[in-house]
Amino acid sequence: MALLEVHGLSKSFGGVTAIADLDFGVPEGQVYSVIGPNGAGKTTLFNMLCGIYSPDEGSIRFLDREIIGRLPHQVAELGVSRTFQNLQMFFNMSVLDNVKVGCHLRTRGRIWSNALRLPGTRREEKQAERWAREAILFCGLDDYLESHADALPYGVLKRLEIARALAASPRLLLMDEPAAGLNDTETKQMRSLIRQISGTGITVLLVEHNMGLVMDVSDRILVIDYGSRLAEGPPEAIQNDPRVIEAYLGGEIEYAV
Ligand SMILES: Nc1ncnc2c1ncn2[C@@H]1O[C@H](COP(=O)(O)OP(=O)(O)OP(=O)(O)O)[C@@H](O)[C@H]1O
Ligand SMILES: [Mg+2]
Repeated sequence: MALLEVHGLSKSFGGVTAIADLDFGVPEGQVYSVIGPNGAGKTTLFNMLCGIYSPDEGSIRFLDREIIGRLPHQVAELGVSRTFQNLQMFFNMSVLDNVKVGCHLRTRGRIWSNALRLPGTRREEKQAERWAREAILFCGLDDYLESHADALPYGVLKRLEIARALAASPRLLLMDEPAAGLNDTETKQMRSLIRQISGTGITVLLVEHNMGLVMDVSDRILVIDYGSRLAEGPPEAIQNDPRVIEAYLGGEIEYAV
């Protein structure tokens, strides 16, 4: 049984079908990529997987539990973390504080016990700080610990998002275009980071347009077009699939990494 099982998933916005009757499964421990042209439905899929959108039809089972009907923080508590295509963080806060936000799912703290300063709150705060520092170190951000996010270059912010997601200690990490906007050196760092994350046993679901990176890090690839499955398989099979080449890859595989 796969860690994540998606069956008959559909989502429309008014007259636009974003995801249409999609089936796939992500085996535990793999780097599994979803590729497809702009507007194919990749981000919409992620938004359903983490509880932001509710699908019109279908099922999403994670660790054999249904995701649909749960709120985003409940999905996160089950062990699903994500990064965003457009950076979403607190730009007026430090790197450390941004990553600590990701830890609160792991601490047992409740809003009221924090507000009332009940015993245990300080201990949880310290624990959160330890976890945050670990994630920061793992993502190579230790030089920026106290820097405010708004002072940091884009490539560093992309890693900060990942550190925050890792601080929640996920079983499954959803990454939406982690290499978008990165230069060649930063893309190489991102490739290493994805491999390192996978090396810790975390299952990675990756959406990415950089085909060099995708072909390099993925165990399996799902290609979608107009929200439907076009092909699925290991990188070599996908690269040589005439339907995929026609609909998406064309001449545009750039081995930037
Ligand atoms: N909130 C929304 N309201 C209306 N339409 C939406 C919404 N979100 C997505 N769509 C539409 O659904 C389709 C799929 O969009 P989505 O953002 O999921 O594509 P994508 O594969 O992530 O594209 P890209 O590679 O450009 O990020 C598009 O036609 C988009 O315009
Ligand atoms: Mg997208």
